[in-house]
Amino acid sequence: MTLIAFGAAKGAPGVSTTVLALAACWPAHRQPLIVEADPSGGDLLSRLGTGNGDRPGVDAAPSTVQLAAAARDALSAQTIGEHLQTLPGAGEIRALVAPTSPFAAHTALTTLVGAGLGDRLAELDGVDLLVDLGRIDPTSPALGLLQPQSRLVLVARPDLESVLHTRELERSLNALRVRTSLLLIGDRPYSPADIATALGGVPVVGVLPDDPVGARALAGDARSPKVVGRCRLVRAAGHLATAFTPEPEVTPVESTDAAGSDEAAYGPALHPAEHHSVGAAR
Ligand SMILES: Nc1ncnc2c1ncn2[C@@H]1O[C@H](COP(=O)(O)OP(=O)(O)OP(=O)(O)O)[C@@H](O)[C@H]1O
Ligand SMILES: [Mg+2]
Repeated sequence: MTLIAFGAAKGAPGVSTTVLALAACWPAHRQPLIVEADPSGGDLLSRLGTGNGDRPGVDAAPSTVQLAAAARDALSAQTIGEHLQTLPGAGEIRALVAPTSPFAAHTALTTLVGAGLGDRLAELDGVDLLVDLGRIDPTSPALGLLQPQSRLVLVARPDLESVLHTRELERSLNALRVRTSLLLIGDRPYSPADIATALGGVPVVGVLPDDPVGARALAGDARSPKVVGRCRLVRAAGHLATAFTPEPEVTPVESTDAAGSDEAAYGPALHPAEHHSVGAAR
């Protein structure tokens, strides 16, 4: 089990989109599980929701609201499993969905953290948790999900405003002994090296392209999973997802002709048949 939490200072730099992009190209030999733990409300329902119910997509329930109600008795791995949804797309990515309402999301998350959601998630076997903490502030109940071994990736834009807010957030988290790294969206106006220096050497784990088309495709605009897989954002996220996950045990197999063509079409880290996909709800 790997738990990677993603969050940000103010400014909506792209946390939820990054989590979706990573899940969409998570290595096929591993199972990603998205946890919407943004107390300001989840994004999956508004982006990938079924709307009128005539197409596959995310539903309003089950969500953290129903899980919080169930957690009054006891919160177990089985109860969590019973409250997951499968995102639209070919990859069968599962998610613990949060309601869009900030009041409902905050209340449910506070209840779940109090019921031990952090510990229960850490006990889940065979899944890699991609946890969307949303905007992090000192009062966020989502901080209660972090474990000593958790990785917290701060998502930021490489501009002055985002960097200044992120630097202060990183210092506060450091004082709480939370180890952070940085993921940048775009490389302008400041380079990743400039940003790392400005943030006093916080490790930069990656840079995802500023790709509005790809971001919209992930949010449900794409006609098919293939469109999602081809966008620059998801291709770059494929490299990052590979870096986040240990190598599989290698079993020698005979080479096939198909490898070269996929490589050319999708880049080295994203093979459509071997990765999860998401976002083609509409
Ligand atoms: N890599 C990207 N390239 C271009 N646009 C992006 C990228 N990532 C996100 N966006 C856009 O930025 C906006 C905010 O994205 P997103 O909702 O993922 O941010 P967030 O940090 O989760 O925000 P919030 O705190 O409101 O939940 C959206 O319009 C999204 O399409
Ligand atoms: Mg978000």
